Amino acid sequence: MPAIAVVGAQWGDEGKGKVVDFLASDVDWVIRYQGGANAGHTIVVDGRKSVLHLVPSGILAPRARCGIAGGVVLDPIALLEEVAFLELLGIEVRGRLFIAPECHLVLPHHKALDRAGEAARGGGGIGTTGRGIGPAYEERAARRGVRAGETLDAARFRARAREAHAAGGRAVARLYEGPPAPDSEFEAFLAAADALAPFLADVGARARAALDAGERVLLEGAQGTLLDVDHGTYPFVTSSNTTAAAAAVSVGIAPWAIGSVVAVYKAYATRVGAGPFPTEIAGEEAERLVAAGAEFGATTGRRRRVGWFDAVAARFAARLNGATGIALTKLDVLDAWDRVLVCVAYEREGRRVDEYPSDAIALAACRPVFEEWVGWREPTGGARRLADLPPRARAFAERLVALVGVPLEILSVGSGREETFRTAPTRAMI
Ligand code: IMP
Repeated sequence: MPAIAVVGAQWGDEGKGKVVDFLASDVDWVIRYQGGANAGHTIVVDGRKSVLHLVPSGILAPRARCGIAGGVVLDPIALLEEVAFLELLGIEVRGRLFIAPECHLVLPHHKALDRAGEAARGGGGIGTTGRGIGPAYEERAARRGVRAGETLDAARFRARAREAHAAGGRAVARLYEGPPAPDSEFEAFLAAADALAPFLADVGARARAALDAGERVLLEGAQGTLLDVDHGTYPFVTSSNTTAAAAAVSVGIAPWAIGSVVAVYKAYATRVGAGPFPTEIAGEEAERLVAAGAEFGATTGRRRRVGWFDAVAARFAARLNGATGIALTKLDVLDAWDRVLVCVAYEREGRRVDEYPSDAIALAACRPVFEEWVGWREPTGGARRLADLPPRARAFAERLVALVGVPLEILSVGSGREETFRTAPTRAMI
């Protein structure tokens, strides 16, 4: 049975958590493959909202086992807080959550470096989440990182971590004249790292065995395609590869073991942090969209920038990921609009541009060419099939999907679990 990857196909915050939660009732494993506690996956079940940062969204489906693969940078403090929160809700986590020993740990000095780096860039910053993601990946690439599996040898781990903490403090002072991470935070890190042992397991081996046994494995991405460190709007990106191919590397499975890729899109667009955003809108209309879509970061609480659906970027994201199906979310947010727009091409220096320029400077010079649709001005939240949608809402959704050129498989018209429904079977589940 081939694996299914679920990826964000815009700038993150597309509703991946909701889509993974929806699919998780039919799968055996949900494995998160990149990023760290910068992610915020919001899931609403029976009116109760949970925000997950590291634990895969599959944890809320009673049957699925969950893995955190080696490509994730793991903040043990954040992880344990999340485990405690889930246990408080009565969700069984121990014995169901497995963490790869290859995961690099996010140490307090990574967060200090992240924040000091952003402060030093002043107005020209990337607008990171401050969760230490970039510095943790930097140290991984520099081969100085400390990995989760090392915590099993407590004495050696403590020596290595102390050395990294001291060196990190010197780096913050040297590079940014900033203060080191407080020792109290480092002690909390050590205590949390000590508690990781029961979760450590060979996630890759388990995933390979599950695939061999014909079990269903879902690979959960974080952030979004346009924040991919290679293919996104560099340097306004995160520090990992967010695209579907990265899942195979992170987990340690064959690229061809991924049989389907569900690309998640919102019916409009948002972006947190800096960087080009061709369809961005401002003023009263933007405020309305922020309010209607509750567009505030699940991790940092920051107000998201908002704009119209960008079909040029969306097509690019579908091709990068090899999307086999689309999950379209938050169509209901546009219910009250008199007119809704979709960007069908760009214009740059008087010329029409149909291909997404992956260079951030070239993208910043692009202006959107919009197609305007009359709004449906009717609630869509009660729809449970495509046929239930107001005709104009359905036509708009189908137009977005046609512009991307990949079949629609899942549609979501609200934050509740029951407000997400299938429009066609997910390819690997047929
Ligand atoms: P970092 O991942 O914290 O280094 O932040 C780099 C960029 O990615 C910033 O623009 C962040 O706002 C953005 N970012 C990181 N994680 C997420 C996410 O989960 N959703 C949306 N944007 C994110």
